[in-house]
Amino acid sequence: MSEAVEIKNLKKTFDNGKHFVLNGIDLSIPRGTITVIIGYSGTGKSVLLKHILGLLEPTLGSICVLDHYYEKMSGLEKAQLRKKFGVLFQHAALFDDMTAIENAMFPLIEHRKDLSRDQMKTIASQKLVDSGLDPRHFDKLPSEISGGMRKRVGLARALALEPEILLYDEPTTGLDPILTEMVDNLIYETHHKQGDKATSIVISHDLSAAFRLADKIVMLHEGKVLKSGTADDFLNSDHEFIRLFVDKGMRR
Ligand SMILES: Nc1ncnc2c1ncn2[C@@H]1O[C@H](COP(=O)(O)OP(=O)(O)OP(=O)(O)O)[C@@H](O)[C@H]1O
Ligand SMILES: [Mg+2]
Repeated sequence: MSEAVEIKNLKKTFDNGKHFVLNGIDLSIPRGTITVIIGYSGTGKSVLLKHILGLLEPTLGSICVLDHYYEKMSGLEKAQLRKKFGVLFQHAALFDDMTAIENAMFPLIEHRKDLSRDQMKTIASQKLVDSGLDPRHFDKLPSEISGGMRKRVGLARALALEPEILLYDEPTTGLDPILTEMVDNLIYETHHKQGDKATSIVISHDLSAAFRLADKIVMLHEGKVLKSGTADDFLNSDHEFIRLFVDKGMRR
């Protein structure tokens, strides 16, 4: 299938149906593309991401990732599939007591027991270099490097297992404009360095990032997909609510 992720009529309630956080999401994410999912705070973006990762179970509907349906999978199969994801969260969430290279090696230590320590080190170093970290910082702790460098380490760790799908949840929220641009560029470069097979999914409430990065933009609102399309489709939309979101986003 040419889709990396295919979601049909996904619904999720946490309170036995009083309120549906996700209320009938239909969404397809083509392989090899950067898709940016936007929407106001609290519209269910992170909840959607956790469903894509198989960390939350749908109340209703189906999710297919890389041709595998979660509802047909055992716990072990889900864990196997999760290794095909690389995830970068807002706060890079590094281990404070591990150096940059130890952080980047961590997924290999967990999941690639077939490799020797030296092989792990070689792979982790390469991922750090690919993410733009200078080797003289490899043996420093997260507290000894800058916020931008920490993002690079987080990205290297997300890349360690050669993921087929890279997920970013609010990678730039709370960063200054210069760091924001650096991280957006990093996402873009990382995506294109991996060739045409890689799929990147970025969750953001920053519309200008969506316009810079996305092949496809998906806007969530009140648990549904309000619109999906290209940047031009959003710019040319007559929908009042989308106009408002676009105008606000462009003025920032
Ligand atoms: N485990 C949970 N139990 C109950 N409610 C939850 C749970 N996880 C999320 N929610 C609720 O789901 C709604 C959507 O949350 P979500 O974190 O997906 O929003 P978001 O779009 O990612 O917002 P933001 O842009 O602020 O990150 C919120 O009302 C939240 O309180
Ligand atoms: Mg969120």
